[in-house]
Amino acid sequence: MSSFKQLGERIAELKEELGAVIVAHNYQRPEVQDIADFVGDSLELSRQCTRVDARTIVFCGVRFMAETAAILNPDRTVLLSEGSAGCPLADMISFDELRQWKQRYPGALVVTYVNSSAETKAESYICCTSANGVEIVDSVPSDDILFVPDQNLGHYIATQTKKNIVLYPGFCYVHHRLKPEQVKLAKRLHPEAQVVVHPECRPEVIALADAALSTSQMLRYVKASSHNSLIIGTEEGLLHRLRQENPRKSFYLVSNSQICTDMKKTTLEALAQTMELRQNIITVPEEVRIKAKQAVDRMLDVSYQIKTAEVAQ
Ligand code: 13P
Ligand code: SF4
Repeated sequence: MSSFKQLGERIAELKEELGAVIVAHNYQRPEVQDIADFVGDSLELSRQCTRVDARTIVFCGVRFMAETAAILNPDRTVLLSEGSAGCPLADMISFDELRQWKQRYPGALVVTYVNSSAETKAESYICCTSANGVEIVDSVPSDDILFVPDQNLGHYIATQTKKNIVLYPGFCYVHHRLKPEQVKLAKRLHPEAQVVVHPECRPEVIALADAALSTSQMLRYVKASSHNSLIIGTEEGLLHRLRQENPRKSFYLVSNSQICTDMKKTTLEALAQTMELRQNIITVPEEVRIKAKQAVDRMLDVSYQIKTAEVAQ
């Protein structure tokens, strides 16, 4: 078994050989985050992938994330760090189910969380992430929205907008299994702490929190917070950056079950092997890619406008 140092050196050599950039989601193992060129949330990584100057993108995350990179970068090779890393939430809706769902609500436009397959994106009007869901829904030229596949994110957005949102009953098991009783207990144990949760959590959990934020929004919120203790309701991988960036603050998880098995499948060994063998190449059939890209591009255009407006203020 090689040490992290040896694997790190081998990965650096392979990066050179492949002309690669390594991007990693905030939920990846600490040692994988440490070796990546960029670490971020789904929106940041989607944006980053359009800007990189590299022949190969090595995506440390789950399949839908690498697929999004492939949708946006048809001229680059995209490798998924671990071929079997999927997202059970993304798998909760198929192309056929979405087609049937659309037939039940003619006239409504589909807003699809990026945690979805390329086929689902291709059947959608626009995509969103947990960082921009409210703005995206407000930007859609229809008052009637079908939101897929995450019911909790859709419900959270519905509380922040006037649009009529029909929710598809999908969920992320990592966030959905957090219960209000667990948040209440954590608050009793740490009465001085602020509570920050991901919008994939149940509405009853979000109601007890000080803020519902995407992973990168959480990082910014925690840094700006005057509180030195925070209770965190998202996948435990985020603690690595939270601790690195806020060494004087204390972090508590709502429960010890906040682990996404698929996010943890990427080890340094798996990453080195993927690069060594040039395996787990993610491709999307061209007719699907073009349609999916339209939905992702619409999202990126809206989030670009929001960012530009923020900077101008
Ligand atoms: P973020 O977009 O907030 O990083 O979340 C992605 C994800 O998979 C949440 O479970
Ligand atoms: Fe999917 Fe949930 Fe894992 Fe995120 S944390 S990748 S939504 S299963």
